[in-house]
Amino acid sequence: MRGRARGLAGRTAMVTGGAQGIGAAVVERLCSEGCRVLVYDKSAEHGRAAVEKWTAEGYEVRLAVGDVMDTAAVKAAFADLPDGWDRPTLLVNLAAGFVFKGLEATAEDWHAALDPTIVGLSLVTREFVAGLPERDADAAVVNMASISAHISQSGYLTYNTGKSAVLGFTRCTAEELAPRGIRVNSVSPGTVWNANNERFHREALGLDRATAEAAPEHGGKFLLKRFADPEEIAAPIAFLLSGEASFITGTDLPVDGGYLAV
Ligand SMILES: NC(=O)c1ccc[n+]([C@@H]2O[C@H](COP(=O)([O-])OP(=O)(O)OC[C@H]3O[C@@H](n4cnc5c(N)ncnc54)[C@H](O)[C@@H]3O)[C@@H](O)[C@H]2O)c1
Repeated sequence: MRGRARGLAGRTAMVTGGAQGIGAAVVERLCSEGCRVLVYDKSAEHGRAAVEKWTAEGYEVRLAVGDVMDTAAVKAAFADLPDGWDRPTLLVNLAAGFVFKGLEATAEDWHAALDPTIVGLSLVTREFVAGLPERDADAAVVNMASISAHISQSGYLTYNTGKSAVLGFTRCTAEELAPRGIRVNSVSPGTVWNANNERFHREALGLDRATAEAAPEHGGKFLLKRFADPEEIAAPIAFLLSGEASFITGTDLPVDGGYLAV
């Protein structure tokens, strides 16, 4: 990537799981840096609402509705781009299976956990790579891991196994794709205050954000004594995609308020 542009202006990106949550913050960040963004998400409802809002704000965003496990839909999303759009050279894999079970997990639970998180991620990455040049592609992938990829958490066996696999996938694909000029990295966030986490803390624990952040077992477990905002995850993802990270591949960047440091 030596001699490449450092920023992201004029690039086309694909973001899986981009309709809401951290993914939506990533879409907004990339658009604000001048990217065109293809959002690939299984939620037509959230995807349409988000894309309508972004389009009204002047962002160049396209929605493709589909599951990351649906190979035909993934292929179609890459093939059916608006006129004038280049094929994506940036990919952010955020869609995941949210299944939190221990050893009691059934085969169905394991598929629900691992299929989107690692099999679907692999299928999307394969299609992304298929459209890139054999050499000097100037392309980058960021996969979503988690602090859960690095630690043990009671009752999280299915989720943490999937996120651990993302780290292995990242290292192996970084090696496989480096000769083609494609960098692959991951990020590992701590708890991010999005709609899901707000609902969970309110409904399951009866806590608002300030109270949850003050609690030692919730926000207090992070060195910075708080949760992250989605934008604080989007920024390092944009950095890893950009030419500023041109000598970074095959690694994981914790974005965790210092959680893994102690
Ligand atoms: N929220 C956190 O605290 C946190 C922390 C660390 C890592 N993460 C990871 O960040 C990513 C985004 O999490 P979030 O909390 O913003 O989630 P979210 O539920 O707010 O958004 C996830 C999006 O992915 C889409 N999606 C889910 N499965 C899909 C599939 N099979 N195919 C296509 N789209 C699919 C959903 O429709 C949704 O729009 C996930 O990989 C999650 O594991 C989240």
